[in-house]
Amino acid sequence: MFGIVGEIAGNVFIFALLAGVAAILAELLWYRLPGKEKNRGQKRIAIITGASSGLGREYARLISEKGKGIDEIWLVARRSERLKDVADSVSCKTRCLSADLTDESGLEKLYESLNQQNIRVGILINCAGFGKIGDYKAVSLNDKKGMIDLNCTAAVAVTDMCIPFMGKGDRIINVCSTAGFQPFQKLGIYAASKAFLLRYTRALRMELLPRRIMVTAVCPYWIGDTEFIPVAKTADNGIKRFPFASKASRVAGVSLAWSLPGLPVITPGIVCTIHRFFSKMFPDTVLQYIWEGIRRI
Ligand SMILES: NC(=O)c1ccc[n+]([C@@H]2O[C@H](COP(=O)([O-])OP(=O)(O)OC[C@H]3O[C@@H](n4cnc5c(N)ncnc54)[C@H](OP(=O)(O)O)[C@@H]3O)[C@@H](O)[C@H]2O)c1
Repeated sequence: MFGIVGEIAGNVFIFALLAGVAAILAELLWYRLPGKEKNRGQKRIAIITGASSGLGREYARLISEKGKGIDEIWLVARRSERLKDVADSVSCKTRCLSADLTDESGLEKLYESLNQQNIRVGILINCAGFGKIGDYKAVSLNDKKGMIDLNCTAAVAVTDMCIPFMGKGDRIINVCSTAGFQPFQKLGIYAASKAFLLRYTRALRMELLPRRIMVTAVCPYWIGDTEFIPVAKTADNGIKRFPFASKASRVAGVSLAWSLPGLPVITPGIVCTIHRFFSKMFPDTVLQYIWEGIRRI
């Protein structure tokens, strides 16, 4: 009896796996099929939000070095001095847009800039984001709202305003997190905001498939050399260590390279790849108890 059930379950698993691989290969092929492309002599730009530090800064450096066909990089974040530093450090032409993306006026600034010029958005990277560590008491409502406003609402708003300026072969990269794969106590709102972004990204990918605009979610594990962890820390001290943290340059390099063929989800590192696999195999409750142990070490 158990033998038959096991065999059926095994066959269903293998069939589901093969169907998934076949669907992804078909999508990657679809993006590469030749098709009519209107060229209206537009300037091809890359837009990077959260470009004043960390991962966003690395994306700017890499696109400047390797971004074929990109004429200008638009750097978006709040701190104008830091944006200027990034602009000075890259060789590609840049435009700095100092804007708070949780603010209506910040979003309007980007919208107006897009509509003023004859441009095409070749790459959009929604990288601006922040998290706060701590339980429901330790994280203020203001910070909770801020995470939802920036990690979710702003990413959707910026994407919506860029899509009309995109076409076949252009790319949207949403920087999510491995935190989006399961609920994380003491990182609750941040993890939930990244789960939202991940689901939204996957849905948008299917909606934009007919237009052959590639949409990718990047889900890194901790990155140790950005401002994220210092900003995330609160008095709660709910997460003590950040072992095996990756480097921003590696995360940016791997994710930019794998977004080129149009993969749906990229886990740029071993820890996040293992976590992604386990999140598909185990119930959330089990994963949350494993996390409870890890975060107390
Ligand atoms: N570091 C990690 O462990 C880790 C792991 C997984 C995923 N991620 C994700 O990776 C992305 C980049 O993070 P990072 O590690 O590079 O951290 P970071 O160095 O703190 O960068 C965050 C960026 O977001 C910008 N930003 C913050 N609030 C903003 C606002 N209201 N409006 C516009 N821009 C704003 C910041 O610039 P200003 O302060 O100048 O506005 C900064 O450029 C985030 O989405 C984060 O959730 C990080």
